[in-house]
Amino acid sequence: MEVHNKTILLVGATGGIGAAIAKQLDQLNAHLLLVGRSEQALRQLSAGLSHRHILLLADINSAAGRQQIVTQCQQQAIDIYINAAGVMDFQLLAQQESVKIEQMINTNLLSPMMLCQLLLPLLTQKSSAAIVNIGSTFGSIGHPGFAVYCASKFGLRGFSEALRRELAGSGVQVLYFSPRATRTALNTHAVKQLNEALGNRSDSPEQVAKMLIASLKANNGQQFMGWPEKIFVRLNALCPNLVHKALVKKLPIIFRYANENTG
Ligand SMILES: NC(=O)c1ccc[n+]([C@@H]2O[C@H](COP(=O)([O-])OP(=O)(O)OC[C@H]3O[C@@H](n4cnc5c(N)ncnc54)[C@H](OP(=O)(O)O)[C@@H]3O)[C@@H](O)[C@H]2O)c1
Repeated sequence: MEVHNKTILLVGATGGIGAAIAKQLDQLNAHLLLVGRSEQALRQLSAGLSHRHILLLADINSAAGRQQIVTQCQQQAIDIYINAAGVMDFQLLAQQESVKIEQMINTNLLSPMMLCQLLLPLLTQKSSAAIVNIGSTFGSIGHPGFAVYCASKFGLRGFSEALRRELAGSGVQVLYFSPRATRTALNTHAVKQLNEALGNRSDSPEQVAKMLIASLKANNGQQFMGWPEKIFVRLNALCPNLVHKALVKKLPIIFRYANENTG
């Protein structure tokens, strides 16, 4: 789907990946409804864009926040919804605070599904529309230290796949876009150190944004970023025991940095 002149709801616009998407869509002459929870961050983002866009302060984890978003979307008649909001807590489940578990499931899975449901009547009115959910490599590979984050992203991938099939023929395309590690504030110092120790490569948010927009234009239902991550995703689906053995060997490193994340 083309983005030029389209009206696009971007949730998580103030994040590392969200801001990179906003900047590239701005250059492509899209009309943006930028959602975040910090007024200062939204204003800072807006100041760096070439065109004027609508800024909206809203928390997707509150019913009132979701309703505010929907009301604005009705007024703007949006064509595309991009969900770039997310939270991550790297921690062994035994040590994880329950509030973090709730926050990850709500922000990464429950609230995006609820928002999608509310937006559907608007999107299905259009002859062509799109929903883009940003997942993760951890939405396809269960990784120690990220059990709840993985659960939220596996859920988002399943939701996106089912909805894509449910909406086939409706004119609404559903894209699940899965970056690998990306250099943003989502990753704590311990996560960065873990990635280095495991030899995991990372992308810039600009590379992620570019590929996401290309996938949207090409109507790719599912898109995974990065080699060898794409291969591991397939290998894990076909031979999970092989990936299991490889990851179990890395447990001492994972435990070390998870403990550091606590301290
Ligand atoms: N960075 C990576 O390594 C990586 C890799 C794979 C996938 N991803 C996924 O990519 C997406 C974007 O991540 P990022 O790296 O850009 O993270 P980020 O820089 O931490 O940005 C996260 C964004 O989510 C927003 N957000 C969080 N909770 C929210 C809520 N309750 N209501 C509204 N907005 C909320 C934040 O807004 P506030 O400013 O208001 O907090 C911020 O704009 C996430 O889904 C993440 O899981 C990231």
